[in-house]
Amino acid sequence: MTETTVHVVDPEVATIKPGPRFGLTSPWECYYHPAETATQGGFECEMDELVVYGEIPKGISGTWYRILIDPHFCPKPNTPFVDGDGNVSAFRIENGKVSMKIKYVETERWLLERKAGRRLFGLYRNPFDNHPCVRLANDSTGNTNIIYWGGNLLALAERGLPWALDPDTLETRGADPYGGQVIAKTFTAHPKVDPHKNELVVWSYAAKGLGTRDICIYSLTPEGEVQNEQWYKQDKPGWPHDGWITENWIILSNMPFTSNSDEVLKAGGDYWTFIPGQPSEFLVTPRKGSKMDRPDWRSGEMRKYTAPHGLVIHTGNAWEEENGILKLESPFTSHNVFYFWDPEEYERAKERPTGDWVRWTIDTHQPDGTAVAPAEILAEGIFDFPIFDERMTGRKTKIAYLGQMIDSVNTRPVFNGVVKLNTETGVKSVFRRSEDSSVAEPAYIPRGPDCEEGDGWIIFYSEKENAPCGELVLLDTNDFTKPIAIVQLPFRLRNQVHGNWVQNPHPETPLPPLTRPIRNVVPSTKYSQMIRLE
Ligand SMILES: [Fe+2]
Repeated sequence: MTETTVHVVDPEVATIKPGPRFGLTSPWECYYHPAETATQGGFECEMDELVVYGEIPKGISGTWYRILIDPHFCPKPNTPFVDGDGNVSAFRIENGKVSMKIKYVETERWLLERKAGRRLFGLYRNPFDNHPCVRLANDSTGNTNIIYWGGNLLALAERGLPWALDPDTLETRGADPYGGQVIAKTFTAHPKVDPHKNELVVWSYAAKGLGTRDICIYSLTPEGEVQNEQWYKQDKPGWPHDGWITENWIILSNMPFTSNSDEVLKAGGDYWTFIPGQPSEFLVTPRKGSKMDRPDWRSGEMRKYTAPHGLVIHTGNAWEEENGILKLESPFTSHNVFYFWDPEEYERAKERPTGDWVRWTIDTHQPDGTAVAPAEILAEGIFDFPIFDERMTGRKTKIAYLGQMIDSVNTRPVFNGVVKLNTETGVKSVFRRSEDSSVAEPAYIPRGPDCEEGDGWIIFYSEKENAPCGELVLLDTNDFTKPIAIVQLPFRLRNQVHGNWVQNPHPETPLPPLTRPIRNVVPSTKYSQMIRLE
């Protein structure tokens, strides 16, 4: 009888948390981030017939596309978690069933590094830190948002132009599907679909290259034609990550950051630096092509209205009221979420951070530089990842869905609640799965083409602390007390950045599963052992 040695593995060691692994080390340890729980690197798969608890309504037909940051090669030490290759996870719901596909965005950067078999790109947006052989290469990762427009999935990262993907196979079709129409070198990660004009409203900051002050705003038709191109200059390089549109206006949220000088970058510094105390800024301009008559605005003018210091990272809806008043909704965060870009010797506030859900008022009759009135607080707490019924973009809405960070027993700071807020009635419904669960950005699925604002379902990824697998949770918007369905995944997924639900564009034709096509097959008799049936 042979003797078997049983090696008992400490459960702590079996997790991905950094720690002693029998004294073994890996360069990947430098990339571990406290908020990240899934392993990284090179994962692609497809699967159908996912296990469903409960019942998914047969009326749901569409695909939920999410983008994750998943570096294929080990990043350089001190790389912030916002950098890394874009990895798409798609979940398709059809006839109560769920199929999935996970695939990398095959960017030039990803292909170049795979060909070399090693990392070639260095610190985040630091061109002096890249290998000379990729000095002028397209370094965009397509890792921040994924939207559907005009038959393409667009994988977006605001440092470059979109990567176009096939919505069914997730194959990368190529870079810059609208090339040659504008000279802007960048593209926002949060473009806005105007459903009333059927156009995609887009802006580029640092539009003439890293560290430039130029902003370019334009719109895209579903056929990919660029219209309404407008150019502006900021007083210094800024970071308008998200924004709002109304029927006649576009408003960008400029956060208190600026880009560092070449000297800093050459010395191995970061691209961004946080500016403590700088007001939050709204960059406001009329949308080109609007029929609005405003003689008090110069042609091509962009005004900057200021708010208290803080971060408006993401935005909800906005609309116009009488007498040139704009209403904008957003979370407002008191502290710098991007702590790794704090300036040296900056002492962070000791108070508990806030991130209330607020409504701003901008009077467009006020001159450039005016400070706006304090925001109306619609809900107190720490919120982010707002969504609303985008059939109502630019028109007054009352329903917002939000991720919330509620006190939790998790060992890491996580969003762990999904909130439905009716700002007319003040009614707030909160879904929280368990004390030790976390949730990612939700998506809204309308119940039908003509349903009431915000009516339908909410879908989001959720996982429990130390559980081996993640889940998709489906809530009916009329009942946040419990899910109507939970889809079990075979593993945990890395943190989602952003995602979007895409309704079946041809509802009369069921969507095929995201897995490869099933080959034609007929029953054969040659190999049958069921002779009793002869
Ligand atoms: Fe974002």
